[in-house]
Amino acid sequence: MIHYPLVSSLLLGLSLLLAAPPSAKAPAGPSNAAADPSSDEVIAEVMQEGMTSGLAKRVAKGEEPVEGRRELLELFQRLEGTSPSIGHQADWDKRVKALVAAAEDAVDDKEGYAKRLRKAVNCGACHKAHRE
Ligand code: HEC
Repeated sequence: MIHYPLVSSLLLGLSLLLAAPPSAKAPAGPSNAAADPSSDEVIAEVMQEGMTSGLAKRVAKGEEPVEGRRELLELFQRLEGTSPSIGHQADWDKRVKALVAAAEDAVDDKEGYAKRLRKAVNCGACHKAHRE
């Protein structure tokens, strides 16, 4: 019939269209550089509320009651899934994991948590790798 080639070329066109756009396959994956700008905001907030505020330092000295330790844990957990605009994502994830793990230990009052936290909360080392 006369419709047939029309239909099939329409179908062909449609399938080409569906297959074509390469933009659709860029996943919002954990690569930095193209970092979600909201990551910077989250990181800056956590810095202010957890670091500059002195909370992390107090917990790392064993001076903070469990409420404060829990607050610190919640702050550090907000870093999970963020991407810094500078440095390698894998290194960042490792540092965030160490912060969260140490804060978890603090909440659980695990022996040696203060020391582990002091090591994880190394302002200079992390800034050198991830902040300019
Ligand atoms: C795990 C890594 C890491 C650690 C540990 C860390 N920082 Fe940061 N900090 C960052 C990154 C990344 C930025 C840049 C955030 C941004 O894009 O604004 C930053 C930014 C900051 C800022 C600027 C925030 C703003 O308002 O823009 C301050 C202040 C700060 N850090 C203080 C500290 C202090 C104090 C410590 C130690 C007690 C510390 N940080 C430990 C990663 C870290």
